[in-house]
Amino acid sequence: MDSKFAALIIFISISYHQACGQKLNCSFSIGHQSVYSCFLKVDNPNGLANFTEITGTHLPEMTNEDVTKVAYGSLKNTTTPPPIVCETFQNPTEVFITETVIKSIKDSFRYCSKLKKIEIYLNNLFQRDSMEIDEDAFVGNPELRLISAWNNRIKSLHENVFRNQNKLMYLWLNNNEISDLGDDIFLPLHNLLQLDLWSNQIKVMKRNWFRNLTKLEDLWIAVNQIESLPPNAFNNMVNLKMLALSANELKELPNNIFSSLKSLKIIYLEHNKLKEIHSESFGYLLNLTHIYLTNNQIDAIDERLINNTGVTYIDMRNNTCANVNITDNSTSRDVMRNALQKCFENYKLLYPDETTTIDTTTDPTFSPGCIDGNLDDRVCKLEDWNQELEDKIDILTENKQHMQEDIENLLKENEDLREDLENQVLLIADVQDENQKLQTTTEELQKELEELKNQFLIWTTRPCACL
Ligand SMILES: *[C@@H]1O[C@H](CO)[C@@H](O)[C@H](O)[C@H]1NC(C)=O
Ligand SMILES: *[C@@H]1O[C@H](CO)[C@@H](O)[C@H](O)[C@H]1NC(C)=O
Ligand SMILES: *[C@@H]1O[C@H](CO)[C@@H](O)[C@H](O)[C@H]1NC(C)=O
Ligand SMILES: *[C@@H]1O[C@H](CO)[C@@H](O)[C@H](O)[C@H]1NC(C)=O
Ligand SMILES: *[C@@H]1O[C@H](CO)[C@@H](O)[C@H](O)[C@H]1NC(C)=O
Ligand SMILES: *[C@@H]1O[C@H](CO)[C@@H](O)[C@H](O)[C@H]1NC(C)=O
Ligand SMILES: *[C@@H]1O[C@H](CO)[C@@H](O)[C@H](O)[C@H]1NC(C)=O
Ligand SMILES: *[C@@H]1O[C@H](CO)[C@@H](O)[C@H](O)[C@H]1NC(C)=O
Ligand SMILES: *[C@@H]1O[C@H](CO)[C@@H](O)[C@H](O)[C@H]1NC(C)=O
Repeated sequence: MDSKFAALIIFISISYHQACGQKLNCSFSIGHQSVYSCFLKVDNPNGLANFTEITGTHLPEMTNEDVTKVAYGSLKNTTTPPPIVCETFQNPTEVFITETVIKSIKDSFRYCSKLKKIEIYLNNLFQRDSMEIDEDAFVGNPELRLISAWNNRIKSLHENVFRNQNKLMYLWLNNNEISDLGDDIFLPLHNLLQLDLWSNQIKVMKRNWFRNLTKLEDLWIAVNQIESLPPNAFNNMVNLKMLALSANELKELPNNIFSSLKSLKIIYLEHNKLKEIHSESFGYLLNLTHIYLTNNQIDAIDERLINNTGVTYIDMRNNTCANVNITDNSTSRDVMRNALQKCFENYKLLYPDETTTIDTTTDPTFSPGCIDGNLDDRVCKLEDWNQELEDKIDILTENKQHMQEDIENLLKENEDLREDLENQVLLIADVQDENQKLQTTTEELQKELEELKNQFLIWTTRPCACL
């Protein structure tokens, strides 16, 4: 073929590509701990998102397979991270998109099935729109351990969005504009250690949100507009160490609301509208050492709060009955008792009979078990026991079933064996018969042989002349 003609074809195909296909450009580098990363640049002045290829030169001996991290530099006018990135590099474990103009996450991460970290924070700096996260945004990422999505103007999330994230350990959604989330949204996240909802616009805390988060250690829901806590909201969170409820609109704390948080060390309740502190809200929490109650309107505190918990630090500045923060490491709590005297006295005046009422909170073995009932906690406990018994009965019934089946099988085997045995006996009888017959035959044959021998003798003793 004419070489000029061939060159023309190549030239045409290149310019065609440049005219229609938009490009992403990677600069590849090896960083900390030999992480091979692609630093992406986007050049699309028209804001389109139909990318056709990713350019860039790999470091020697490296390929697309080796890319374990993708970071977006500037996305210019592109507002959705394009799926072509995960179609091209399928092995990244980390993706970073921060300080860009993205406002939606669709199938952007679908094909990066090995992702452990998605960091998409601080994307609210250059745009006023809220970020939309698709229901299927994380469906292809079952290995995720961290989703960091703070400062994005997220207003809401689909109730199913985390359905494949049962390995997730850290979920940071702070500094968004979330006002409502479905009741069951966090149920799949049973390995979660930290949940951060700090500074959003949540008015109503849902009953089920934390029901399945039995491994959670830190929960931030401070700086929202929550007016009340649903009963049993924090049950099951036996590993929770820190609970931040500061800067909400809480007026009171329900009985036993914190009492199953046996690992709780620190609770932040500053800047709320609390007026009284009942010991029943806390129960018997020996691990609880720090209670922050600054800037409430507290006028009365049940003394059992300091008798039944491990509190060594209580911050009561800017309250009605006291304006102090106290550190008291002594087991007698004398310093605390003196400093909060007025609060305790007020409480006794308001509730003179309190100590004579049945107090489940002083029973260290008491732990309310129901997860989502509105029932009294003791009824819940009974229900749990019932459930346990029912479970045990189920197991026993199943065992019995198995044993019966085993017995039936054994009986059947026995039957078969007996039949076999009988057959064997019959067989032996047959063989014996046969044997008998053979013996008779042998005897007869022997007789015949004997006769033949005799005849032979007669034959051989005859004179030769006869032949
Ligand atoms: C990208 O989209 C624009 C506008 O819809 C279109 O003109 C162009 O052909 C598309 N390019 C490709 C490669 O699909
Ligand atoms: C990609 O980026 C590198 C480094 O910034 C640059 O040298 C190269 O020309 C770019 N390639 C394309 C096709 O834009
Ligand atoms: C893309 O961004 C530039 C500024 O960065 C702006 O002038 C231009 O109008 C934008 N184009 C579209 C299609 O949004
Ligand atoms: C709740 O957590 C358990 C593990 O503790 C898990 O098996 C179950 O699937 C979770 N529930 C939901 C609705 O995801
Ligand atoms: C304190 O927390 C630990 C786990 O962090 C737990 O094992 C222990 O039982 C708790 N103490 C009490 C008194 O509940
Ligand atoms: C708290 O403990 C102190 C010291 O043991 C005791 O004098 C006081 O009566 C207790 N208060 C309540 C309300 O049980
Ligand atoms: C107590 O309240 C006053 C007046 O609102 C405020 O200026 C001060 O900072 C508060 N103190 C604390 C420790 O928050
Ligand atoms: C109270 O706490 C603040 C900050 O934690 C500290 O600066 C101050 O000295 C404390 N006051 C008392 C009386 O303990
Ligand atoms: C109380 O204990 C804590 C830690 O256990 C310590 O940091 C603090 O200095 C102690 N305070 C006093 C007054 O002994």
